[in-house]
Amino acid sequence: MADYDFDVLVIGSGPGGYVAAIRAAQLGLRTACVESRETLGGTCLNVGCIPSKALLHASEYFDAAANGTMAKMGIKVTPELDLPQMHAQRLDAVKQLTGGIAFLFKKNKVEWIKGRGAFVDAHTVQVGERAVTAKDIIIATGSTVTPLPGVTIDQKVIVDSTGALELERVPQHLVVIGGGVIGLELGSVWRRLGAKVTCIEFLDQILPGFDGEIRKESNKIFRKQGFEFLLSTKVTHVANDGQKATLTLEPAAGGEATTIEADCVLVSIGRRANTDGLALDAVGLATNTRGQVEIDHRFQTSVPGIWAIGDVVPGPMLAHKAEDEGIAVAENIAGQTGIVNHDVIPSVVYTWPEIAGVGLTEEAAREKGEIKVGKFPMLANSRAKTNHEPDGFVKIIADAKSDRVVGVWAIASVAGTMIAEAGLAMEFGATSEDIAYTCHAHPTHSEAIKEAAMAVRGKAIHV
Ligand code: FAD
Ligand code: NAI
Repeated sequence: MADYDFDVLVIGSGPGGYVAAIRAAQLGLRTACVESRETLGGTCLNVGCIPSKALLHASEYFDAAANGTMAKMGIKVTPELDLPQMHAQRLDAVKQLTGGIAFLFKKNKVEWIKGRGAFVDAHTVQVGERAVTAKDIIIATGSTVTPLPGVTIDQKVIVDSTGALELERVPQHLVVIGGGVIGLELGSVWRRLGAKVTCIEFLDQILPGFDGEIRKESNKIFRKQGFEFLLSTKVTHVANDGQKATLTLEPAAGGEATTIEADCVLVSIGRRANTDGLALDAVGLATNTRGQVEIDHRFQTSVPGIWAIGDVVPGPMLAHKAEDEGIAVAENIAGQTGIVNHDVIPSVVYTWPEIAGVGLTEEAAREKGEIKVGKFPMLANSRAKTNHEPDGFVKIIADAKSDRVVGVWAIASVAGTMIAEAGLAMEFGATSEDIAYTCHAHPTHSEAIKEAAMAVRGKAIHV
């Protein structure tokens, strides 16, 4: 048998890669991870989930002080923005968490090989001067921003999500291209801090992929907060004079062009798999039409010994999905049976209120068969009402015959936390009756899940 430097070599240290590396090491495999960034943790920890949540959290407090929510509770304050400090606490969160991964690597004896990896053959990856060999190699190279043809990101006037996390001043007018998760989260940050925000979305509604009713209600809530949406609209040109941008817009269906000006433009029209410079052709691996690496249910590519997980493979581009795949692929490599249930992957938009869902949308569920739907408004939830958080609702979709829950959607201040219960219930094959007869602590937002489950059978108490 060939003598390899490592049993497992992971390329990329995002939530997919670092988790796979740690799990592989825990399973007794000699493991290394190649990462070209200065710090571990990938998009998520460096320029994604964590820094965006640091700004969302801080700006939420600012907004609560500025928009009268605090005054309603008897706290009179006039907030003053210290943007450098807001950024400093963001950078501190990133530093601590990326450092935490370096600590976990040391603790688990995972070697961090610094540099960019490129395949030489199915068991060799070149990193700088070093040719590293491994029996199994995991591609976990993640994703990068999808560019808008003809639009150059200068990270000053025209920014991507990374630039939008680092703005040195609050824009007067931020135009967001793309009404998806990044546009709504980062648009919310800068709106709360004082920017006028216009969001241009190609489709006829924001948040594609989410439940239809949730999309419509979210739009209404964001509009109430001051977001302006131009739906069914495409950006055909962006002129940048170094200080401001002039965007040319056209109705998606065709028609007369108009222009709008902005001192900052965020391009957030999606992300694409990152395989640049990996030399996949050296091992005979081709990407699919979307640029992704195809895998089987065990996360193995068409080349034996090469595996792939996370944003670089088909499926939702979410950190927790990548992490779960990281655990499963390591277990598969170690000869165990690693499984991820891709039907039960929660999605959360960390705006105010949060928007969350797991399983099928009502539209998709109806296409599959007969369903029953139960809804409960947050306005009727005692905790949400007491906390001045009246917006949103919980919706439970169950199969009409078996009563098995097939989808749960929520708009609520803490929907991201609430949705975990729904995921667990679905993982265990729960019926709406199971949830309805589970005792939920009072007063909690989660009682709205119980009430929505009761409403599936027409029996909610508090409406
Ligand atoms: P990544 O995290 O992208 O990591 C891949 C790593 O591989 C990178 O560090 C890269 O430098 C490295 N790499 C690539 N090629 C090579 C190479 N050839 N050699 C060496 N290293 C290489 N998801 C959520 O679930 N929740 C959120 O709240 C959330 N917020 C987000 C906010 C923003 C602004 C963005 C941009 C994304 C957010 N995401 C969120 C998505 C999440 O970040 C990704 O789904 C997740 O990071 C994917 O993990 P990954 O391990 O597949 O890849
Ligand atoms: P997205 O796919 O969520 O949204 C992109 C939006 O842009 C879509 O609504 C799309 O219709 C629209 N669009 C595409 N081309 C357009 C054009 N030319 N003009 C106008 N609109 C256009 O992508 P986004 O927001 O960039 O996020 C990328 C990924 O990062 C997502 O897949 C998401 O899963 C992940 N992410 C997750 C977060 C979370 O879990 N909270 C937070 C941020 C990102």
